Amino acid sequence: MSEAPHGAPIKTPGQLIAAVIAAFAIPIIVIILLAHYVDSSTRTGAGTDGLSDAEVAKRVAPIGQVEIRDANAPRTFKTGEEVYKAVCSACHASGAAGAPKFTNTGDWAPRIAQGFDTLWHTALTGKGAMPPRGGTSPDDYSDYEIGLAVAYMANNAGAHFENPPKPVPGAPAAGAASGAAAASGAEAASGPAASDQGAAQAAAAVAALASVPQSAAPATGGAAQTTADASQAGKALYQSVCQACHAAGVLNAPKFGDKEAWAPRLKDPIDTIYNYALHGKGAMPPKGGSNASDADVKAAVDYMISQVK
Ligand code: HEC
Ligand code: HEC
Repeated sequence: MSEAPHGAPIKTPGQLIAAVIAAFAIPIIVIILLAHYVDSSTRTGAGTDGLSDAEVAKRVAPIGQVEIRDANAPRTFKTGEEVYKAVCSACHASGAAGAPKFTNTGDWAPRIAQGFDTLWHTALTGKGAMPPRGGTSPDDYSDYEIGLAVAYMANNAGAHFENPPKPVPGAPAAGAASGAAAASGAEAASGPAASDQGAAQAAAAVAALASVPQSAAPATGGAAQTTADASQAGKALYQSVCQACHAAGVLNAPKFGDKEAWAPRLKDPIDTIYNYALHGKGAMPPKGGSNASDADVKAAVDYMISQVK
């Protein structure tokens, strides 16, 4: 230590030992403090739980989750009364939104006259302000249970309906509704039983489209200059392409001339509606599956809308 330059702070072996220990200890303490600081920075700010474990887990959850159920597990069904009380009574007890009121024979008589299968189907697919399945999902209540609730309500208002047949264990759950859905004829309904039917209709519509000579897609090119030309082109395109689905309401397409079907859609700005027609929406293919010009598709939309105003 005698060689230590004059004025160096370390003068004794004791100080040297202390300096060496400090040289190790201080960085370690700093690292520990830093680590703690980084970790604690994920604490939520006042008034937000955006970083809480539950919130984060929700954000990073996979988009599609598969829930595995044993299809052969014995399923216990709710009774019609239980389903009614849990779901349907929300509207049907008071007659909210124009729902036929529970035990009110006057409300129910004309509906009961439609027969059980029709009512069951309506309950599954919805009607007016009545949401499909009363707003529940098929996982909550099977078609069969919805049917039980329909029978329960109708029978409390003067009907003498039998309960729907109990589904056979192991059979696809949708089976119960197929009879009811099939009874609905051309109407492509939502719900699993109807999707086959919808697919068949889609195939038919596509076949119909294929038979349309593409040259029949009208007055393309520079023709649609004036509004008169445009509306001609719109009508022609409707007749050659769009009506394949929109004339009969195939796949739940809003039906041509059906004000009720169009009213909710017409609440969107016209550009949004054009966009749906140009780029597709749900079962509606872009441009109806044709290769018509944008202007002609818009003209066809105008033509369809002009019939429901
Ligand atoms: C959000 C309110 C609401 C709920 C919940 C609801 N309904 Fe309805 N329901 C209605 C309305 C409104 C109507 C009348 C629809 C019409 O005639 O346009 C209706 C009509 C019906 C009809 C008669 C359909 C016809 O052909 O006239 C049946 C059957 C029916 N509901 C069954 C059910 C069943 C079963 C449930 C429970 C699983 C249920 N509803 C839950 C509002 C509701
Ligand atoms: C293959 C059947 C099919 C054909 C062909 C078809 N559509 Fe559609 N269209 C549908 C269906 C289904 C919907 C309802 C989509 C939805 O709401 O999910 C729809 C909806 C629409 C809507 C309403 C969109 C909205 O919700 O605002 C417009 C506008 C429309 N179609 C225009 C056209 C025009 C124009 C053509 C012809 C160029 C055409 N469609 C051809 C099936 C079809």
